[in-house]
Amino acid sequence: MSEPIHLGLDQGYVSALCRVKTCSLAGEMNDIPKHLLLRRELEKDIARLPPHAQLPTERELTARFEVSRMTLRQALGGLLDDGVIYRIGRTGTFVAESRISKDRSLTSFTEDMRARGMVPSSSVIDVAAEPADDTQARDFRIEPDTPLARIERLRLADGIPMCHEVVRVPLQLMPDILTVELTGSLYDLFARRFRIRVASSIQRTRAIAVDHPIARWLMVPAKEPALQVRRITSDTTSQVVEIATSTYRADRYDFTHLIRRQSS
Ligand code: GLP
Repeated sequence: MSEPIHLGLDQGYVSALCRVKTCSLAGEMNDIPKHLLLRRELEKDIARLPPHAQLPTERELTARFEVSRMTLRQALGGLLDDGVIYRIGRTGTFVAESRISKDRSLTSFTEDMRARGMVPSSSVIDVAAEPADDTQARDFRIEPDTPLARIERLRLADGIPMCHEVVRVPLQLMPDILTVELTGSLYDLFARRFRIRVASSIQRTRAIAVDHPIARWLMVPAKEPALQVRRITSDTTSQVVEIATSTYRADRYDFTHLIRRQSS
């Protein structure tokens, strides 16, 4: 996954942000709180930045916008609360991933099925705690043997098996996940219970010949073609929160992508 991009203070963004300065704040109506005006200006500039770009320091911003530290903190606080930016300890403040949109969306099984007019459901096959092996540790960026929750489920649409799924999440991020009801949407659970909002995934799809026991769960003959999707998902702070392997029945599933020609 992408690491935060540290923009040097001499790069284009800073000068673009700094050019806004106080002139755009000074001309506004006096009854709008200054921190809201500042927030609006910050938002315009943030919208032009790539996810995980680092914002200038507080000192830099207060100097350039000629606002007090308190006004700046109020403006940044609002942006933090709304997930437009995020902070990493003392390292700095960064642009969060853009919101999910229809044409570039990271969707859940539940959302995918509902979008196709079907009713999603799940059967839990197995749940367990297990130590991360070397590959999982590398993908999660954690130490080998760190405890993971392994959640194996059969995903159905209108009662028909659609997908066999094994999801792993770090137990330190979601400590009691193995004790809760897991028949609904995991992404909803991440958000509601653990305040983890998925933001981006690296996803690899390959064709496989499905074997037992997965073939049995999917109710297809052994060696039947299937689509296997491996997803490594990060949240809005770029922390890897999920590694999932989903095996879809090839006769019941397809992937549709909106693709755009790059402007030259
Ligand atoms: C898809 C993804 C999985 C993800 C799941 C979440 O199936 N391939 O990686 O875990 O969606 O779906 P839900 O929120 O419905 O559990």
